[in-house]
Amino acid sequence: MSNVAKIELDGTVYEFPVVVGSENEKAIDISKLRDTTGYVTLDTGYKNTGATTSKITFLDGEEGILRYRGYPIEQLAEKASFLEVAYLLIYGELPTQAQLDEFKTSIQKHTLVHEDMKQFFEAYPAKAHPMGVLSSMICSLSTFYPESLDPNRSAEAKNLTIHRLLAKLPTLAAWSYKNAMRHPFMYPRNEFDYCKNFLYMMFAMPTEDYNVDPVVVEALNKLLILHADHEQKSTVRIVGSSQANLYATISAGISALWGPLHGGANQEVIEMLEKIHQDGGDVDKWVAKAKDKEDPFRLMGFGHRVYKNFDPRAKIIKKACDDILSKLGINDPMLEIAKKLEKVALEDEYFKARNLYPNVDFYSGIIYKALGIPTEMFTVMFALGRLPGWIAQWKEMTENKEPIGRPRQIYTGETPRDYVEISKR
Ligand SMILES: CC(C)(COP(=O)(O)OP(=O)(O)OC[C@H]1O[C@@H](n2cnc3c(N)ncnc32)[C@H](O)[C@@H]1OP(=O)(O)O)[C@@H](O)C(=O)NCCC(=O)NCCS
Repeated sequence: MSNVAKIELDGTVYEFPVVVGSENEKAIDISKLRDTTGYVTLDTGYKNTGATTSKITFLDGEEGILRYRGYPIEQLAEKASFLEVAYLLIYGELPTQAQLDEFKTSIQKHTLVHEDMKQFFEAYPAKAHPMGVLSSMICSLSTFYPESLDPNRSAEAKNLTIHRLLAKLPTLAAWSYKNAMRHPFMYPRNEFDYCKNFLYMMFAMPTEDYNVDPVVVEALNKLLILHADHEQKSTVRIVGSSQANLYATISAGISALWGPLHGGANQEVIEMLEKIHQDGGDVDKWVAKAKDKEDPFRLMGFGHRVYKNFDPRAKIIKKACDDILSKLGINDPMLEIAKKLEKVALEDEYFKARNLYPNVDFYSGIIYKALGIPTEMFTVMFALGRLPGWIAQWKEMTENKEPIGRPRQIYTGETPRDYVEISKR
């Protein structure tokens, strides 16, 4: 294999190094392209652009492989706890028992948020989408910890910010729901583990005892692990590369997740299944709509930017979905419609030709629904899971001292022209 790529431009041949990753992925290093040739590359949507090298997550979209720090997602989802996976992503290795205990204790110490923040919630309308509330609240944390604005603070101080974020996101996420319900906030219970504590803050009421169902805790643990990282998170790395503080950076990541083509898809899936159900459950009709180019409707939860074979998380989640619903004794007509839809779509030429398979969001919404999580909270749940991945991406980027992210463009607008007085336009 050649370790240089040759590009001929205007009669001159230029050589660029080829970089090979540990899984034999190859890239042409064009970091000197503009300096040496005057050209830039054009890649809308970054489908062919590697923005960095990274040791965190390996993803092979053709083979349907996902590994965090080398460990297959299937093994982690089966055996690990969410905080163990968070530690792995952020610090690079699975923790020993002593390291995990220390990590948990430190996170448990920081679960409370400043009392003044409670007042912010009151200012939001009851119908506020919890993602809007969460992203603002996370950014607001920077105002309570102004020392986090210093990009040159010690590694220990940066680590404290990481633990604070991991500790406070579940509290703020649960409170964004309580606020929408106009229910009293439940303070965290530090003797509970991470997932149990979140469920307690979501569903308990001060007037009654609340027992968190271990089946629900286990299901949430699995879902959060499946969402914990997905290699490049360009928003977090780009915002972080400006040396914005970690709270602002994660808030940007939350905003980028919100859209229906990304993390918002799990909410869209359930809304779509409900619509199909209310419409009489004619799955073929909706598949036809998705194929019709004149119709903007897409099958939500189908297709993925990188998985062009199958999404390994979807396989795990489909099985988990069956298990959890049967353990909880739930018979959800949405699951039946989802299964029918999957079958029809997978046998259809349109979907086969375009490699459109169910993605992780297709089944996660059904599980969240079974756990009692309201639809508008689904994307918040995604954010809760993705937090360790965002932190790991930010930590790697800052430790590698990566330059500020600033893509180029090819300008296609007007060439110079003179200002025209308003009376003459
Ligand atoms: C995820 C997604 C944005 C990936 O987009 P992408 O890689 O840029 O792929 P494109 O949008 O270029 O789609 C390629 C082709 O498949 C079609 N397609 C993609 N997803 C489709 C879907 N869910 N339903 C129907 N058609 C779909 C497109 O219309 C396009 O068809 P064409 O080649 O005839 O024009 C896209 O598949 C999608 O919108 N899915 C639904 C939303 C979703 O579930 N998002 C969660 C992602 S985890």
